[in-house]
Amino acid sequence: MSAGEYDLVAVANRLPVDFTVAADGSVDWSRSPGGLVTALEPMMKAADGAWIGWSGAPDLAHDPFDADGIRCVPVTLSAEEIALYYEGFANDTLWPLYHDVITAPAYHRQWWEAYRAVNQRFAEAAAAQVAPGGTVWVHDYQLQLVPAMVRELRPDVRIGFFNHIPFPGIEIFAQLPWRRQIVDGILGADVVGFQRTSDASNFVRAVRRLTDLTTRGQIVMIPGHAARPPRQVRAAAFPISIDSKHFDELARRPDVQQRAREIRQELGNPQTLLLGVDRLDYTKGIRHRVKAFGELLEDGRLTVPEATLVQVASPSRENVEAYQQLREEVELLVGRINGDYGHLGHPAVHYMHHSYPPDEMAALYLAADVMLVTALRDGMNLVAKEYVAARSDDRGVLVLSEFTGAADELAGAVMVNPHDIDGMKDRIVAAVEMDTREQRKRMRRLRRRVLEDDVAKWSQSFLSVLTSVPAPAGGTDGPAPVPAEVLS
Ligand code: F6P
Repeated sequence: MSAGEYDLVAVANRLPVDFTVAADGSVDWSRSPGGLVTALEPMMKAADGAWIGWSGAPDLAHDPFDADGIRCVPVTLSAEEIALYYEGFANDTLWPLYHDVITAPAYHRQWWEAYRAVNQRFAEAAAAQVAPGGTVWVHDYQLQLVPAMVRELRPDVRIGFFNHIPFPGIEIFAQLPWRRQIVDGILGADVVGFQRTSDASNFVRAVRRLTDLTTRGQIVMIPGHAARPPRQVRAAAFPISIDSKHFDELARRPDVQQRAREIRQELGNPQTLLLGVDRLDYTKGIRHRVKAFGELLEDGRLTVPEATLVQVASPSRENVEAYQQLREEVELLVGRINGDYGHLGHPAVHYMHHSYPPDEMAALYLAADVMLVTALRDGMNLVAKEYVAARSDDRGVLVLSEFTGAADELAGAVMVNPHDIDGMKDRIVAAVEMDTREQRKRMRRLRRRVLEDDVAKWSQSFLSVLTSVPAPAGGTDGPAPVPAEVLS
């Protein structure tokens, strides 16, 4: 296959832009402010980067274009492929399976075929763009077959894979009818990154159980064959973060601080504002959290209007049945609690099924006394880190589920097991009653961690491990494709 011209090629399910299709069929795009693009942007600009991804709309064929210094190469998906590959295999097979089967995964051969075909399309697009001896960085569970497919097409390039969500234990992963193909797909990479050390260990255990390959610690040895020399695959944890300084600056802006005061006023100046912010996803533990809050009102340990819960639940994957069902359950529960405990002008729970821009989110974080992150399983949970980054006043309490990747890092949080409703209720009350001295002590500790380990550090550490891999056969022995000044 002929080589492209980009030294660093990112491959992710979505492009870092939002497309809008006008009534006359014309297409426009704007940059979307996602975490991944913030992380990769400096490298992409400095290293001549391209980004391969889907536009988010069906049947949208768009020529490659430049978006603020990043070459964007759209991959077209038909409406049927979106249903089978994205809503089906990615989000109704892999997503529940990788999140400890919180809801039952569905296994359909037709979904798998679509997943394979779409992964092949992404791999071909990446292989066509990457320069000789360049680097391809593949992201997430939607594209696990892409590393091996790219290696097949372009054995001269370095390949990294990062899994943004948990990697389950072998007892769960073994359910997947295509488990061996997935493992082989990921093993096409030179470096495989996970959020937690336990995810990396789960992956290596799956390799041991499902293949005959030799492993040494977290390194998998791949024997050579024909013209291919032997190579090694390194699995390791690289916990992702946010653009902490940007968030910190945002929350220090006078207009954002003013908005935080307005929010509290609009809510009737409660003594305690509790906040939940999530995609409306069954992994986030929203039902468990709202149930615990409702029981605290029932027990009289919290009262309305002194305490109020704001729950932002941004719409997500709305064509998938499990998400539709969750929405009904959450909305029924919120309605019941408001019916039982709300007063005129003072609902117990303010529930919003919208997304908000970053400055409104920063104001909400600043307004909240207690932040509730009670996911049943979460690769990392960046909301927890955003809350901490916003609190330069050293106030506020983070209640954090043990089952998030963030729990491995954020030791100053009040830890909860969201399955234990009584335990969670006690921890929420402890958070509500925590004195300001203790809040400050904990928040300072949290902020040191979040401000130091930001998303730039995450991408730099992954890419520096990847670019230190010896150049593959047929590749160049030249310098690493990411310039040193970007990695410093
Ligand atoms: O956490 C995994 C992830 O795929 C993120 O990368 C993404 O922002 C989020 O889930 C929402 O996913 P989707 O692309 O399905 O809307």
